Amino acid sequence: MVRITTRKNVRILLLGDRGVGKTSLILSLVSEEFPDDVPAKAEEITIPADVTPEMVPTFIVDYSAAEQTDDQLLEEIRKAHVICLVYSVDDERTLMRITTHWLPLLRDAIPHSRCPIILVGNKEDLIEDTTVDAAQEIMEEYPEIESFVECSAKSLKNISEMFYYAQKAVLHPIAPIYIADKQD
Ligand code: GTP
Repeated sequence: MVRITTRKNVRILLLGDRGVGKTSLILSLVSEEFPDDVPAKAEEITIPADVTPEMVPTFIVDYSAAEQTDDQLLEEIRKAHVICLVYSVDDERTLMRITTHWLPLLRDAIPHSRCPIILVGNKEDLIEDTTVDAAQEIMEEYPEIESFVECSAKSLKNISEMFYYAQKAVLHPIAPIYIADKQD
């Protein structure tokens, strides 16, 4: 069974290990410049419909392991319409944790309904190479990942694109957004 919903708003949650740049990505989007000092967690941000490419109000939600409990994390995951799962392209451990920690956690937290995920490699200003091959392998294993983007909160590269992909994943899903239990 495939259920298509038309959402009147989009709630985007950023997840990923400490220090990968979640808060910086949000603040870079909003102020169009890289913030030198960032708080542990950005306040929830509301982008009004008329300044979003898809013309729907968009809420952007930060996560901080330092400020939030596991229960609060689960609550935010369940409320999210789309999750931007962030790693840092210059830190292989944060990329490994996408498959060893974050994606399994998300499958456990939202086992039946499918929440699209955007895989985000941040800090691309720090490397000359690309992590696209590793990202592609992960996407083959986890079809809930709708798209992948390498970006930089510092140089502002692909920042608005990242949030646009997230909006688009909710409003124009390319795959069923509801997966029924398999029946024997
Ligand atoms: P937690 O709050 O611990 O979960 O971290 P976070 O994921 O919110 O990361 P935060 O935005 O606090 O950034 C961590 C560090 O990375 C800071 O020193 C930022 O200035 C730096 N940083 C963030 N994005 C970029 C980027 O695109 N390029 C570079 N070079 N540094 C970045």
